[in-house]
Amino acid sequence: MRNPFLIGERVYLRPYEIDDAPRAMAWMNDREVTRTLETRGPINLEQEQEQEFIRNSIGPTSIALAIVLKDDDRLIGSSGFNTIDHPSRMGTFGIVIGEKELWGQGIGTEVTRLVCHYGFMDLNLNRIELEIFADNIGGIVVYERVGFVREGVRREARVRDGEVIDSLMMSMLRPEWDARYGD
Ligand SMILES: CC(C)(COP(=O)(O)OP(=O)(O)OC[C@H]1O[C@@H](n2cnc3c(N)ncnc32)[C@H](O)[C@@H]1OP(=O)(O)O)[C@@H](O)C(=O)NCCC(=O)NCCS
Repeated sequence: MRNPFLIGERVYLRPYEIDDAPRAMAWMNDREVTRTLETRGPINLEQEQEQEFIRNSIGPTSIALAIVLKDDDRLIGSSGFNTIDHPSRMGTFGIVIGEKELWGQGIGTEVTRLVCHYGFMDLNLNRIELEIFADNIGGIVVYERVGFVREGVRREARVRDGEVIDSLMMSMLRPEWDARYGD
């Protein structure tokens, strides 16, 4: 493992390094990967460098970590908190498994648990929230399995392929985490 920060069973999360950029750029230009994300490409390496996404990936109000397979040290995705509001003790969770062939193998669930544990225990968050496209069934399965609850529907909040779609707001609170995982 290279510079591990959060360690799970099959994956670990570490800070991004500049040489991760080409792989991460490939996911953000893959429309199958980004179809359920608010942020969609295109983006090239020069823009990545100019906008310093990787350089700024760890900051006081947001954290993006690289997801890496323990077996072969392969970078496969990204997860963290897109925003952290310290006075409100609230974080907005985000995850992308960029390597599509690894979807449906439990990695999203493992990573979501690791990052939420970090958010509640180390960042002292009281609330973790997210917005998800209502047709992103895999994501909803992951979040409900980890303990997120549906709070409401944002009607026709997003547009994809010329169609308006609903999004769901989901959240988990620290007492709910404690009740479930006994931390
Ligand atoms: C969403 C995402 C993180 C899920 O990661 P993952 O590693 O595939 O998740 P898991 O394997 O832990 O769990 C997914 C579950 O959803 C199920 N699932 C997936 N698509 C489904 C569908 N259409 N209907 C019913 N269940 C479905 C899977 O079978 C799996 O359940 P199981 O473990 O009981 O078999 C991943 O697909 C991804 O990165 N997608 C692109 C970016 C994205 O959408 N991010 C989230 C934005 S809010």
